[in-house]
Amino acid sequence: MKAIIAEKTGGPEVLEFKPDHPVPTPKEGQLLVKNNISGVNYIDTYFRTGLYQSPKPEILGREGAGTVAAIGPGPNPFNFKVGDRVAWLTTGGYAEYTAVPADRTVRIPDGINDEDVIASFLSGMTVLSFSRETYPVQKGDWVLLHAAAGGAGFLMTQLLKTVGAKVIGTAGGPEKVALVESLGADVVIDYRSEEGKDWVKIVKEVTGGQGVDVVYDSVGKDTWEGSLEAVKRKGTIVWFGNASGPVPPIALPKLSPKCVKIARPTLFGYIETREELEYYVNELFSLLKSGQLKVKIHKVYPLEQVAQAHRDLEGRKTTGKLLLKHE
Ligand SMILES: NC(=O)c1ccc[n+]([C@@H]2O[C@H](COP(=O)([O-])OP(=O)(O)OC[C@H]3O[C@@H](n4cnc5c(N)ncnc54)[C@H](OP(=O)(O)O)[C@@H]3O)[C@@H](O)[C@H]2O)c1
Repeated sequence: MKAIIAEKTGGPEVLEFKPDHPVPTPKEGQLLVKNNISGVNYIDTYFRTGLYQSPKPEILGREGAGTVAAIGPGPNPFNFKVGDRVAWLTTGGYAEYTAVPADRTVRIPDGINDEDVIASFLSGMTVLSFSRETYPVQKGDWVLLHAAAGGAGFLMTQLLKTVGAKVIGTAGGPEKVALVESLGADVVIDYRSEEGKDWVKIVKEVTGGQGVDVVYDSVGKDTWEGSLEAVKRKGTIVWFGNASGPVPPIALPKLSPKCVKIARPTLFGYIETREELEYYVNELFSLLKSGQLKVKIHKVYPLEQVAQAHRDLEGRKTTGKLLLKHE
């Protein structure tokens, strides 16, 4: 099969195309999925660079959609059948075939295509769980969301508006700003512009000097201090990514003056059980079906061009989601 192997950690150049990699054999509890679409997520770059540890050589890619090609031996508690159209979350997506745990795999209902599922699967469940469980966003809350035009941000902006929050989005450049505005964000700041560089001041002005109820910060190194300033007394900061580098260790007394709560969640911690996974999948599929959640696909890349997809994502050149298409 065609696959992309990261032989070692490093830049996008470590992602090597192999035209004849062996197709995996599904073990007990696994399915072999012939992927149609795989997602490219920022987390893939962390495993590629070694910011997050994983054994190498490795096939990256945390999600995919396609059809069940074979079922591993032993019990089949979810009654999967060869030919079922499914989506999965684990690892190994940069390949034509992936052996995936059956309990991390769900059937895709009719009426939703594979592209739309993967444009919102990992990213959509992330923002759903973080806005419901990490900090349950309420109508009228002021929310500051960084990188609001990105894969996760594009979906989060819509969800926040659906619950009636007042959204301040940040985004780099006028095109990204216009995109976030089109989703109904109340205030959008171009934090790379001269005026927007002082985004903390703007947030304070907009919120009558108080600051926001919650900050969703996936940018990390470049924004964490500003996020701490922009949050209100008794507010919450959800740090959930490292797009500019990780947030350094924080001295806890920094939280005292405003009684700030901080969280550092991961999606996988909210969907560990089958029930939790199905809950968020069902929520997501019904939002997609009803049209309440729209997806945006930046580009569909052929598998061979995944290194370019990483360059585009890390180069801040993308909005919405990056997908890989298998033939
Ligand atoms: N904890 C979890 O479980 C979880 C799950 C999903 C995603 N995440 C995190 O959520 C974030 C978004 O993921 P995504 O896949 O949807 O990516 P993305 O938001 O589409 O891309 C990252 C965006 O971050 C912004 N950014 C700011 N500073 C940057 C820098 N120095 N280098 C590169 N980008 C920079 C850029 O937007 P601007 O140009 O607008 O600044 C860029 O487009 C990532 O940090 C990811 O790790 C976490």
